Amino acid sequence: MTQELRIEFRARALPSSGTLVVLAADGVALGAGGQEVDTATDGLLTAAAEGQGFKGKRGSTLKLVMPRGLEAGAVLMVGLGEADGLGENDWVKLGGSIAGALPSGPASDVTLFAETPAGALSAAQAAQMAMGMRLRAYTFDLYKSKKADDDTPSARTVVIAVDDVAAAEAAWAEMSGITDGVIIARDLVNEPANVLGPEEFAARAAALSELGVAVSVLDQPAIEALEMRALLGVAQGSVRPPRVVVMEWNGGAEGTAPVALVGKGVVFDTGGISIKPAGGMEDMKGDMGGAAAVVGAMHAIAARKAKANVVGIIGLVENMPDGNAQRPGDIVKSKSGQFIEIINTDAEGRLVLGDLLTHIIETKSPSVVIDLATLTGAIIVALGHFYAGMYATKDETAAKLAAAGEATGDWVWRMPLGPDYDKMIDSKFADFKNTGGGRAGGSITAAQFLKRFVGDSDWVHIDLAGTAMNAPATDISRTFGSGYGVRLLDRFVADNFEG
Ligand code: BES
Ligand code: MN
Ligand code: ZN
Repeated sequence: MTQELRIEFRARALPSSGTLVVLAADGVALGAGGQEVDTATDGLLTAAAEGQGFKGKRGSTLKLVMPRGLEAGAVLMVGLGEADGLGENDWVKLGGSIAGALPSGPASDVTLFAETPAGALSAAQAAQMAMGMRLRAYTFDLYKSKKADDDTPSARTVVIAVDDVAAAEAAWAEMSGITDGVIIARDLVNEPANVLGPEEFAARAAALSELGVAVSVLDQPAIEALEMRALLGVAQGSVRPPRVVVMEWNGGAEGTAPVALVGKGVVFDTGGISIKPAGGMEDMKGDMGGAAAVVGAMHAIAARKAKANVVGIIGLVENMPDGNAQRPGDIVKSKSGQFIEIINTDAEGRLVLGDLLTHIIETKSPSVVIDLATLTGAIIVALGHFYAGMYATKDETAAKLAAAGEATGDWVWRMPLGPDYDKMIDSKFADFKNTGGGRAGGSITAAQFLKRFVGDSDWVHIDLAGTAMNAPATDISRTFGSGYGVRLLDRFVADNFEG
């Protein structure tokens, strides 16, 4: 939230102060700007690289202070590695490495010569680096009395030197909105559950209306009227009533069926009566990572005025044990009319999502429906923290999402569905039950549960339990909430639904 970077684009010129960032490819190959700096300093860059063993390896850095012959206070050399064929996400990650290597302390502004030995970066590449810098600079220190940026200017300016300033500004106008979407999702995941209950989360989603998104917030009586009893069953142990939020962006042709995004928003998951062990339970404040990704993606899509129709829906509940809480053995009638036997109250996310899926398919007839949820620990066992699990009814849609994941670094890995797994959730007493019995295939049986609510829809389920929260630090993500899924969804829409 703090340590914001302000991004500006200008034509290349040697700065009169601050830190100058120079990119160097393998073999310390410099672009025109880098060569100018090397000449102005009487060969300092090449000499220092030689002396320090800096070879231009991707993401490596070398810092030179008080370089003679320059007005800048420091030069930061950053390695590009093999500069040809760097992809979009490589530029984002490089921006992250740069932001991570900037000197702390009151060292003021930064100038970045955005170039390779082959010439200036494209407008898109420059904007990608800017995105990486802002994502890396993100911190969440609302509740730290001493802020990370107490010693540094709170809004330091990064000037990116490019050939075509207007084109870079136009590219950044899009990319900065997407970046904001990622940061919104991170903030939501990082907030503690006492601050961010269902009502407070809904209020943050409602802020999307400032961008022209039509937002409607359903309160408990409205949710009851819609007969979402599976969702309500999860919420009934909490003193904080649930909310369902529907967000509509109509940037596409009138009458075109929308893309539907559905998010699990369990603001805190104690497990309910099937209570979780104490160790690590605090992480369950992030059990709304799916809903956060949907809100962040809606922001990104609206901010760049996407020419597509997209509808988001999130179910916001708190899963608590209480005198009024749902019990194992309870049978609830879902909005779809199907009866569900509750075996484990900790398998709550699927109960929320089932009703949301029924509602959005009934009311919006979407062309494709994608749900996102921190649904199972089992997906972390299967895939760890780098890929989210993806389940899909249609190969073509799965391939499109996989491509969006490759482009953005929000990777998805397809998992299987099938009748043998489906049988595992058959129930003795009801139409089906909310767990697969044992632990075998826990993420798959959860997906099979959801599939029972989608009819013959083109449907995708993304289990982001391992990627949206508590994921390992990367070049662009350093906090508990990663913002995973925002760039994935935005790209999926951009590449497939905007004509
Ligand atoms: N929110 C959890 C899944 C989760 C686990 C998310 C770890 C992030 C990190 C979900 O509601 C849950 O409790 N799932 C159970 C299902 C089980 C009871 C069938 C699980 O994964 O253990
Ligand atoms: Mn749970
Ligand atoms: Zn949960």
